[in-house]
Amino acid sequence: MPFGYHQGRLHCEGVALEEIAAAAGTPVYVYSAGAMRSRLHALQRAFAGQRAMFCYALKANHNLAVVRLLAGEGAGADTVSGGEVMRALKAGVPPERIVLAGVAKADEEIRLALASGILQLNVESVPELRRISAIAQAMGTTASVAIRVNPDVAAATHDKISTGRKQDKFGIAYETAPEIYALAASLPGVRPEGLHMHIGSQITTLEPFEKAYGRGVALFRTLREQGLPMRRLDLGGGFGVRYLHESAIDPEALAALVGRLTAGLDCELLFEPGRYLVAEAGVLVAAVIYVKEAQDRRFVILDAGMNTLMRPALYGARHDLLPLREAPAGTHLQPADVVGPICESSDVFGRDYHLPPMAPGALVAFTTAGAYGAVMASDYNSRPAPAEVLVDGGRFDVIRERRLPEEQFAGERIPDWLASGAP
Ligand code: LLP
Repeated sequence: MPFGYHQGRLHCEGVALEEIAAAAGTPVYVYSAGAMRSRLHALQRAFAGQRAMFCYALKANHNLAVVRLLAGEGAGADTVSGGEVMRALKAGVPPERIVLAGVAKADEEIRLALASGILQLNVESVPELRRISAIAQAMGTTASVAIRVNPDVAAATHDKISTGRKQDKFGIAYETAPEIYALAASLPGVRPEGLHMHIGSQITTLEPFEKAYGRGVALFRTLREQGLPMRRLDLGGGFGVRYLHESAIDPEALAALVGRLTAGLDCELLFEPGRYLVAEAGVLVAAVIYVKEAQDRRFVILDAGMNTLMRPALYGARHDLLPLREAPAGTHLQPADVVGPICESSDVFGRDYHLPPMAPGALVAFTTAGAYGAVMASDYNSRPAPAEVLVDGGRFDVIRERRLPEEQFAGERIPDWLASGAP
């Protein structure tokens, strides 16, 4: 357990979170290096008998230190923009371990990917395929491509994070795949040697994976029979974690399933886990600013809000909340609505959290905040996005400084014609 109470204080590995809050201020995201490593190792161990590579989905948490840490343990990178390719390279991920996905790759992004010599571009449409073909040809190179196929499987997760159903914007329709692969094979500058799919995120049972992977493997075989040079099956990410009562996907069970479905296929396997590697390794530490008794409710008002952790406002997601000081046994827990400082009614982390009495200055931690937390933070209401800290054993470092208020408008300009007039 990366987070737990020792002598009444909540710790991340060997460091008290209070100590980090005092050094880095609040709100602050705190990550356990050990927890990230152990999640990656669990996947690597489970798939040891299969030719599998884990390309960490940077979108979950793109901090350079996090990417470096995982790359150092053998992870590759799943990227979705030129910016993410640059981050992955900067963090030290070897290009031959980087894949680039995304429905809207612009010419410069395609050029950057090809010039960097990344492993594979995951193609989402025929127009994109033609664009990559033309650019690669102009650059005198050949792009290794995987086509993202939409298996039309409902992922049994939140509507907004399902990606593999017919109505979703991702990939090409399953039935059209043989035709589109044939087209790819006929185009110069592209080599269709991979098949890509990703059905959604925070999936906590194996059934949707079984369905989707089964369809992917069947198609992979058909394409081989069609004479395509298929060598890589990229099964995406989506492995669910524990927020409240769910259980995280079991790597051993997943590996057994994949082993069974791909038996005799003789290909490289790629996975794109994001959340699974980092979510439970992170917390968001915030301070109580006020406790307000009003409208027959108790509001605990924090210095973190929807601008710091957007998931509750955007998806109705619930993150557990722990006080940094452990409540003594027998403390009467009271229901409270936990809210942020932002001027919007949706700035609510959750209703009816059961909390010990809290005073201004008390510190709390939202759990399972390592994925899709800091990356989705913003400066809304001119509240600077938070700092990030990485803990390893008894050591901690700030890996992202808190933005200064004046940094927020450093790039803004008042045009001369406005500046000359007196306000
Ligand atoms: N590969 C592709 C093509 C993806 O679209 C995604 C996530 C992943 C891999 C990584 O999925 P993961 O292993 O993390 O589930 N902001 C949302 C999640 C959006 C996920 C988007 N795609 C949230 O906070 O729940």
